[in-house]
Amino acid sequence: MTSAVPAVAKVTADPASRVFRLDGGGVTYALGVDDKGYLQPLYWGSSLAANDPLVSTDPVKTGDPVLVKAPGELSGFDPAGSVTLQEFPGQGEGLVSDPGIKAIFADGNRDLVLKYRSHRVDGETLYVELADIRRPLTVTLRYTIDPDTGVLARSASVRNGDRRAVRVDQIASAVFTLPVGDDYRLHYLTGRHAAEWTKKEVGITPALTVLESRRGSTGHGNNPYFAIGKDGLTTEEHGPVWYGALAWSGSFRISVGQDNLGRVRIMTGYNPYDFSWSLKPGETLDTPVFYAGYSTGGLGAASRTFHTFEQAHIVPGGQKARLRPVLYNSWEATAFDVTEAGQEALAEKAAKIGVERFVVDDGWFGARNSDKAGLGDWTVNPTKFPNGLKPLIDKVYTLGMDFGLWVEPEMVNVDSDLYRAHPDWVLNYTGRPRTEGRNQLVLNLARQDVRDHLLGVLDRLVTQNDVAFLKWDYNRNWTEAGWPGVPVADQQRVYVQYVGNLYYILSELRRRHPKLEIEACSGGGGRVDLGIIGLTDEVWPSDNTDPADRLMIQDGFTQVYPVSVMMAWVTDSPNWANTRATSLDYRFLSSMQGGLGIGANLDKWQAEDFTTARKWVAAYKTIRETVQRGALYRIDPPSNDNASSATMYVSQDRRQGVMFQMLHSSMWRDNPAAQHPQGLDPAQVYAVRVLGGGALPDGVPARASGAYWMEHGLRAPLKGDFVGTAFVFEVAQ
Ligand code: GLA
Repeated sequence: MTSAVPAVAKVTADPASRVFRLDGGGVTYALGVDDKGYLQPLYWGSSLAANDPLVSTDPVKTGDPVLVKAPGELSGFDPAGSVTLQEFPGQGEGLVSDPGIKAIFADGNRDLVLKYRSHRVDGETLYVELADIRRPLTVTLRYTIDPDTGVLARSASVRNGDRRAVRVDQIASAVFTLPVGDDYRLHYLTGRHAAEWTKKEVGITPALTVLESRRGSTGHGNNPYFAIGKDGLTTEEHGPVWYGALAWSGSFRISVGQDNLGRVRIMTGYNPYDFSWSLKPGETLDTPVFYAGYSTGGLGAASRTFHTFEQAHIVPGGQKARLRPVLYNSWEATAFDVTEAGQEALAEKAAKIGVERFVVDDGWFGARNSDKAGLGDWTVNPTKFPNGLKPLIDKVYTLGMDFGLWVEPEMVNVDSDLYRAHPDWVLNYTGRPRTEGRNQLVLNLARQDVRDHLLGVLDRLVTQNDVAFLKWDYNRNWTEAGWPGVPVADQQRVYVQYVGNLYYILSELRRRHPKLEIEACSGGGGRVDLGIIGLTDEVWPSDNTDPADRLMIQDGFTQVYPVSVMMAWVTDSPNWANTRATSLDYRFLSSMQGGLGIGANLDKWQAEDFTTARKWVAAYKTIRETVQRGALYRIDPPSNDNASSATMYVSQDRRQGVMFQMLHSSMWRDNPAAQHPQGLDPAQVYAVRVLGGGALPDGVPARASGAYWMEHGLRAPLKGDFVGTAFVFEVAQ
């Protein structure tokens, strides 16, 4: 949030005690070197006073200049190496928890013991260098803390100083530790295609919980995120929460569990599954960044703080990023049957509703008449668009919208000119089957020739056509992740180099075309993470557009990621995903809680549908900034057990608030309970109105103080199934 006094982050390194601390945004993080040279985590929580002692959990004698002690062995079963709490342990010396790094030296030595070697503070960044006790292998840990939100950025890099290659089988971005306790609860997100973002919660025990993707990309399964609270203490509105997310769009692993002494250990980073990196002499391997925060205000405040950080530091353009335009996408209307005349007719209808961006989805290129052919051939289909795309694009701009196109650059159909010319460009093992998914194979983007080809194709597409927006899709997971053509020892680099080259293409395209906007999609939410969010303008959370399911999807998504990048479309009813029928009003009220899009078949709409849509699009534009950029309060989260739900968005200056109330299904003759707004300024007087027009419910005054609204709540007389309403609070002049 904005404040008059500029916030500062402080990085302190005390050479005498060898204790390092980072302070910012109400958070302190500390680590220190013990008397045997191990780097130990010391503290992660609310701000401490400058002179507060930061000591290891092992007893320190009064007056002892060394504050951090290394423990001795606990028993023959628990040698010192397995009980010393290490900030980033190597796999060696009897370590029994997940390591920060695991390596095999050329002579077969697998013992890696890291101790402190040096540190440096560069501006607001702390670097701590660790080195193996015998071999010239070093790991540098990097830390910064955001002054406004206290969000830490942590990453690591390993350097081989030896004359022979060292095989790195695992390297974490960061390992985190929380003090001994049996009352920690892990919150995470999971799902599958068209059912992403399901919230789960489990106790943290010695049985490790592993959140991972082995698929080559982030995946629909587990999102690379965790939040940890305390049993009985942590709720939506109260209590401690340690949380974070990995900025990586490839296979990842987050493991959470108690170690042999009951301390909570969290390992985050590349997935060691099927991965190794033969680190050449003098070579360095970097990890992605893990962003981690701490809040005392429950899961709600944790999300709001993380959203603030992400909007300022991850989303391209930061606070100056454009609000998401209202979008129309042709996929559900025409599927592969796109033609110049058909798209122009849809564009005319979309413009009448108030749409600002018109997007042609799949089917415009190559021999793409179904999902069986054409992927890889990114030239305009001459039968569907005999005059190229120009006439359609010109028409779209004349109608007052900008123009976008769907692409899926990383994939190829076997039936395509690209595959016929370059069958060796896909992930494969020589002589083994090439398993197709949706009739397509994955191009091996780790290869430089593939990378350069795709960048060239996309650059030309955007240069030659007036394209303001690309919807970048990715519609299958990896199988047979082989990379013939490089030495066997280097083939498993594919997991890292593929994603590195994806990031390269996205950043290079953005650099060459600064006005181009990109949406990340992977059959819905199969590749949503802070890595891809840092290089795109919006993401598509799910192919499931059922408005009731979507409320839960949006609730899960926003635990981690900001509304400002979350697209939400109004599509046709009954919905393809679950055949549920809902009113157009309800569908709009659900989608207006994100970046509004319309994906329905406008050719089938009646006159009254256009009137309804025009009303809601106009209403959305009056609250768009608050919804997309405001603070999100999950007043009463939607769930299968909850008949009604409420969500509130409050603008940064607290002059506008919007509360959506959604009724899943009526019970008996009851009315839903009053829902209580949150986040308003108690001292300000707010006028209230019903979004989209209409009378206020009986007994609701037209204006009252923020305190009044938050205390009394509002009781919307909703009846029936799948109905909703929204109240807009605005500071009265
Ligand atoms: C994926 C996307 C859809 C659509 C189709 C096109 O399934 O998630 O929105 O773009 O591909 O083939």
